[in-house]
Amino acid sequence: MSEYDESTLTQAVIDSFSQCSDERFKQLMGSLVKHLHAFIRDVDLTPEEWMGAIRFLTETGQKCDDKRQEFILLSDTIGASMLVVALDQARASRGAKGATPATEATVQGPYYWEGAPDKPLGADLAEGVPGEPASYYGRVTDTDGNPIAGALLDVWSGDGEGVYDMQVEGQTEMRARGRFRTDEEGRYWFWSIRPMYYPIPMDGPVGRMIKRMGRHPNRPGHIHMIVSAAGHVPVTTHLFVADSPYIDSDIVFGVRDSLIVPFDHHSPGTAIDGRVMSKPYWSAHYDFRLVAKRD
Ligand SMILES: [Fe+2]
Repeated sequence: MSEYDESTLTQAVIDSFSQCSDERFKQLMGSLVKHLHAFIRDVDLTPEEWMGAIRFLTETGQKCDDKRQEFILLSDTIGASMLVVALDQARASRGAKGATPATEATVQGPYYWEGAPDKPLGADLAEGVPGEPASYYGRVTDTDGNPIAGALLDVWSGDGEGVYDMQVEGQTEMRARGRFRTDEEGRYWFWSIRPMYYPIPMDGPVGRMIKRMGRHPNRPGHIHMIVSAAGHVPVTTHLFVADSPYIDSDIVFGVRDSLIVPFDHHSPGTAIDGRVMSKPYWSAHYDFRLVAKRD
């Protein structure tokens, strides 16, 4: 039996799966082992610290259920999600043609709920939901500015107090979620609330990690959407409220300048889509650009 010491162990582990027939998996595991071993050496990790890490990851998994995704929270708060998103977008746009860049992507986050109801253009996603009303409108085009008819916007947000439906005890129905399709000219318009900043859930292992790191737990106000259309690369993104607290220190590193949108304040009256508003409201205009898929 071979014996390995701390200088030969890493290569021995990598060599142990040299017969792996899945080249990509082999590359991923080889690099993971190399970097993990380098980290252990770098910090001179103690057995107690390693057991602490294993307990932390175990608790992270145990905290997950069908509505709580503590691993996504972990990935988001240490910047891994955003790095994967950034690399993916760079890959998708490499060699892309078009006069303007595609809309930038950002993290999906832990609150996506598949199967939001289809809504007609102009519908209000936030009927009965606390918050200040906001009108959202704009167009979906390709990167040359040609309108995309029938593009799908799958939209979700918390309420005007920064709370998502999934976080409300006993809330089994979706709230502040819906899917819209653009009209013949690529236009969309709908109503929801003006999103409020909110803290990520702090009652689990990730929350303890954040506190121990001395960080604040907040995300600036934002509304999520996945914008997709046949023949185009979909984008998972947010619109951020321009003057929101924490716009410069998002706990998940998701802010991109191109996604920051001024929300205009309006007195009661007739909104851009003809809706008569009896109380003050906000409006946000944003045009999404999708890059065409390569053959
Ligand atoms: Fe969010």
